[in-house]
Amino acid sequence: MTSTYAAITGWGKWMPPAVLTNEDLSTFLDTNDEWITTRTGMKERRVSHVSAMDMATAAARRALACAGVDAGDVDLIVYGSTSYEEQAPNSASGVQVLLGAKQAAAMDVNTACTSFLYGLSSATAMIRTGMVRNAVVIGVELVSRYMDWSNRNVAVLFGDGAAAVVLQATDREEGVVGSVLGCDAEGRATLRIRGFGCGYANQGVTYGDTLWDFDGPQIFKRAVRGMSEASAKVMAKCGVTSEQVDLCVPHQANLRIIEGVAKYAGVPMEKVMLTVQRYGNMSAATVPVALVEALEEGRIRPGATLLMPAFGAGLTFCSLVVKWGERVTPLGVLDDEFAPPVKTALEMVNEIRARQDPHHRSLAGLMAPVFAETRIG
Ligand code: ACO
Repeated sequence: MTSTYAAITGWGKWMPPAVLTNEDLSTFLDTNDEWITTRTGMKERRVSHVSAMDMATAAARRALACAGVDAGDVDLIVYGSTSYEEQAPNSASGVQVLLGAKQAAAMDVNTACTSFLYGLSSATAMIRTGMVRNAVVIGVELVSRYMDWSNRNVAVLFGDGAAAVVLQATDREEGVVGSVLGCDAEGRATLRIRGFGCGYANQGVTYGDTLWDFDGPQIFKRAVRGMSEASAKVMAKCGVTSEQVDLCVPHQANLRIIEGVAKYAGVPMEKVMLTVQRYGNMSAATVPVALVEALEEGRIRPGATLLMPAFGAGLTFCSLVVKWGERVTPLGVLDDEFAPPVKTALEMVNEIRARQDPHHRSLAGLMAPVFAETRIG
């Protein structure tokens, strides 16, 4: 009996054109290019002028064109994100409408920055068990709208972006051939966004107007450990050695984290795809955007073996081994575009800042995280 695999046959991204530089950030935060560059590797990030669902749909349309698959033939849409515009209905259903993918089941996956890779693993499993045949998996993030722009600890780190892949059932050994998913939940209080759930009602934070609890150094250590251990496990599981990894496409939260993970995995930095300088941390969009750009730059050869480690709030972590197929060029290309932004990235951020409630900022140091001390039993 032949096995079914889930080949990645289409890929596409949509990146907001408006660029926010380190210099822009230093116009309203006590920060500077030197600090941001040396501590994180980041130089600039993007700010979107369109909604997350629009970004996701644009990326998905490009991925479908690349695969030569009609929207009507999609069985499943997985929308990986942390920054939902609505809780109900879900966002995948919004993309289904915009794509015209009427036959598709639609589900959201939120495991923070690992959402795309958790979604890719889930959709692969659904194809491999015969539940669906064609799937679109999206990683999208619109962080700029819910960022606490008064907090330099986090405001410099994130950016907006979207990318998607198309998966199709095949009997060739392709696509995700191994994945290790996990969660270092003891560290869940190290990154918590207050104002993003009903647990924060009546706590002085308006829903959507956020305060970030963020312990960067703790996350840093746990991220390196989680991604490194998951990579070692998945490589052992798949019988893949460091030398056999053709390209590592990691989550990009900090250049120094990536260097630590690559070193542990025994993969030299020349074999690591980097976008962190140009896009910062786009949470769920980071890995798929890096994957699409690796293909655009000709860094993925037919039959290549890829390693994809990531971590996010939770603290969720994962690492996937992907075996690429024969085709590394698109079957079709869509180049339709939204109307360009009428404001610069800095002007858009200043508008968001003007709407944020300074009263909540002053509460930042006073309010204990709501659930941190909650224990059952
Ligand atoms: N500009 C200038 N100074 C800053 C800035 C800034 N933007 N942000 C923090 N600082 C200051 C702090 O106030 C602190 O000052 P103090 O020492 O006077 O108190 C000092 O810089 C902190 O320095 P370090 O502790 O040496 O900073 P570190 O090297 O740990 O780097 C960083 C901080 C970049 C946040 C790092 O810890 C990190 O990358 N952590 C993980 C990243 C992360 O968590 N990303 C999100 C993960 S989850 C996800 O991807 C959704």
